[in-house]
Amino acid sequence: MNIYQPHLMTINKVIQETPDIKTFQLVFQDEEMREKFSFKAGQFAEYSAFGHGESTFCIASSPTRMDHIECCFRSVGKNTAGLFGLNEGDTLGFRGPYGNIFPLDKFKGKDLIFIGGGIALPPLRSVIWNILDQQEDFGHVSIVYGARTVEDLVYKRELDEWEQMPNVTVVKTVDPGGETPEWQGHVGFVPHILENDFAPSPDNAIAIICGPPIMIKFTFEALDRLGFKKNQLITTLENRMKCGLGKCGRCNIGSTYVCLDGPVFWAEELAKLPKEY
Ligand SMILES: Cc1cc2nc3c(=O)[nH]c(=O)nc-3n(C[C@H](O)[C@H](O)[C@H](O)COP(=O)(O)OP(=O)(O)OC[C@H]3O[C@@H](n4cnc5c(N)ncnc54)[C@H](O)[C@@H]3O)c2cc1C
Ligand code: FES
Repeated sequence: MNIYQPHLMTINKVIQETPDIKTFQLVFQDEEMREKFSFKAGQFAEYSAFGHGESTFCIASSPTRMDHIECCFRSVGKNTAGLFGLNEGDTLGFRGPYGNIFPLDKFKGKDLIFIGGGIALPPLRSVIWNILDQQEDFGHVSIVYGARTVEDLVYKRELDEWEQMPNVTVVKTVDPGGETPEWQGHVGFVPHILENDFAPSPDNAIAIICGPPIMIKFTFEALDRLGFKKNQLITTLENRMKCGLGKCGRCNIGSTYVCLDGPVFWAEELAKLPKEY
C-alpha cells in the first residue's frame, strides 16, 4: 500500500466564511472508508487539489458528528488556491488522520478557556463541539476569539450559537481599526482583552490556545500574569509540513517532529524545546 495515496472525497457543501476563507463539508467516496474512518479532536490531514499539491489542515469538525468531516482554510498559495477554486460536487484528495490529540480525559471537570486568533478557530472548533456535545463532563466553557477585522471572523453563525448556550461565554474582539459601526464586541488584541477585560480565573481551569506564533507568545505571557501555570496551557502548532508522517524532516523542532509528537503540546513541553517554533 502506498502511504502517500490519498482517499477521494466529494465536497458536499462549500461555505464562504470570509473573502479568502472557505469551509468544505466532505464525504468519502468509498463506502468502506465512510463507515470505518475515525479521528480525534486535534488531529490533522493532508488535503490535495489534483495538479496543485497538498496542504495540511486540521480536521475542523467534531468526532461526535461523523456524518461528514470539515476543513476550513485560507487561500494563501499554490495548493490552497487550487482548493479554493473547487465547487460543491468536486473531488479532492485526503490523507489522514495524523498527529496527536487534545487530551480530553485531562480536561474533564475543568473550566475550559479556548483562545483563538483568525484562521486558528478551526482546530479549536473540533474540540469545542466535542466538549459541548458532552457538556455534563466539563465545567464552564469560555471562547475568546479575535480577528483582524469583523470581515475576517470565521464561523460567525456558530459564535452566535455558542453565545446562546448555557454555561458558555463568548468574547469576540477585532484589532483596533477593524471594527464596523455595528460591531458589538471588543476592540483590541486577544492577549490584551484576555488580561484586561475578561481576566479568567486559573482555578481548576485549562486554557487551550491556537493562533499565529506571536499571538501564542503574548497570550502565554498574559495567562502567566493571570496566574496560570504551564501545565494549564495547551496549544497546537502549525509548523510547515509536507509528509505528515515523520519521513520528510520538514516539521521538526530539534528532535521533536510536530507531525508525530504534536501538533498538540502543553506549554511545559514547549518550554523544553529549542526556541525554533
Ligand atoms: C498541523 C497544521 C494544521 C493547519 N491547519 C490549517 C487550517 O485548518 N486552515 C488553514 O488555512 N491552514 C492551516 N494550516 C496552514 C496550511 O497548511 C498552509 O497555509 C498551507 O499548506 C499553504 O499551502 P499552499 O500550497 O497554498 O501555500 P504555499 O504555496 O506552500 O505557500 C504560500 C504562503 O503560505 C506560507 N505557508 C505555507 N505553509 C504554512 C504554514 N504551515 N504556516 C505558516 N505559513 C505557511 C508560505 O510561507 C507562503 O507565504 C495548518 C498547518 C499545520 C502544520
Ligand atoms: S511533515 Fe514530514 S517529517 Fe513531519
